[in-house]
Amino acid sequence: MTRSMGYPIRPLAPSDYSLVISVVNAWWGGRNMADMIPKLFFIHFQQTSFAVEHQGELIGFLIGFVSQTFRDEAYIHFVGVHPDFRQHHIGQNLYEAFFQTVKMLGCVRVRCVTSPINKGSIAFHQKMGFVIEPSEKSVDGVCMAENYDGHGGDRVLFCKHF
Ligand SMILES: CC(C)(COP(=O)(O)OP(=O)(O)OC[C@H]1O[C@@H](n2cnc3c(N)ncnc32)[C@H](O)[C@@H]1OP(=O)(O)O)[C@@H](O)C(=O)NCCC(=O)NCCS
Repeated sequence: MTRSMGYPIRPLAPSDYSLVISVVNAWWGGRNMADMIPKLFFIHFQQTSFAVEHQGELIGFLIGFVSQTFRDEAYIHFVGVHPDFRQHHIGQNLYEAFFQTVKMLGCVRVRCVTSPINKGSIAFHQKMGFVIEPSEKSVDGVCMAENYDGHGGDRVLFCKHF
């Protein structure tokens, strides 16, 4: 177990599933996110997914995995921090725990995507050293892949090389 600003980081477990899906919509400002985190992530990706606790309460989590197609590449599917605990480098420490783990598994780069409306996520990922993939579509100077996640589902694509 590592520590994030005094908050312990541990592997995410199947027993975290119910709690995570009960808080994510609120943590994402009311957007419906719970359907995007099926239980399989809590079962099959425990080695590369992490939770942060404070006084026994879950206050942050990261779900990621190593690509089966591109063995030297990792992907972060979800990261969330309790609104009362943001800007304390918990997200950063979750990312660093993930980077450390996937480097040991042979990865040389990490990818993730976010919605163009999620300006906080875009700023956070740029702080974490991710660069936005070039794309034909750009809004307010931010490149995004059009319809990446279905019709109307434009996404900002990030990549970070170690
Ligand atoms: C994005 C999120 C995970 C960041 O977590 P966090 O613990 O608050 O972030 P950290 O404190 O580790 O921030 C690391 C750096 O990013 C910056 N940062 C974090 N959130 C930011 C924001 N909303 N706007 C601008 N910068 C931000 C911090 O200032 C810090 O920079 P510094 O090193 O210069 O101090 C958190 O805001 C969150 O859970 N948001 C809702 C869920 C979400 O959008 N997840 C991402 C998409 S899956």
